[in-house]
Amino acid sequence: MPIVRNKKIEVLFSAAEIATRNHSLAEEIALSDLSNLLVISILKGSFVFAADLIRALHDAGLAPEVEFISISSYGVGTTAGDIKLLRDVDTDVKGRDILLIDDILESGNTLRFTRDLMVQRGARKVAVAVLLDKRMRRKSEIEAEFVGFSCPDKFVVGYGMDVGHAFRELPFVGVVTGDA
Ligand code: IMP
Ligand code: MG
Repeated sequence: MPIVRNKKIEVLFSAAEIATRNHSLAEEIALSDLSNLLVISILKGSFVFAADLIRALHDAGLAPEVEFISISSYGVGTTAGDIKLLRDVDTDVKGRDILLIDDILESGNTLRFTRDLMVQRGARKVAVAVLLDKRMRRKSEIEAEFVGFSCPDKFVVGYGMDVGHAFRELPFVGVVTGDA
């Protein structure tokens, strides 16, 4: 079991499993009806997944534009709080086909807020891709068109996801199980 920052981390999804899944997700996205794609990565948690997925999209024959939006869904700790737009996209989304990329779909508040914002601004289509789906935690009505894996009801870290700003660098998704 990997040990990082003196904590034992149980691996839930390995780097190899994620890489394989990213390529099949990209094939699914390439087969969908999205055209002239604008990908929007929701920071910070999705930056690693987005970086890998856009390269898998290239391998699948797509040439997306890439944008970033920064949304904060948590107040303090790990309890979902208010949604805040911290940094907006620079691109006009009117008439565009958008793929929102996030790390986890949990309550759905973050993606619901972001999707509604793009629809209000006149996007032609808005689809959602997430690495992980915690369906049992849903509060807002939203589903992702593209889901990497369904996630157990555990707080996960790694592959861009953090607890208290730690563990984003892990190449896998895991759960902190205790002190080493
Ligand atoms: P939602 O708004 O409740 O759907 O929350 C989604 C956001 O919360 C994601 O973009 C993540 O950044 C964060 N999040 C939710 N669950 C986890 C987790 O288990 N580990 C790390 N971040 C999480
Ligand atoms: Mg996030």
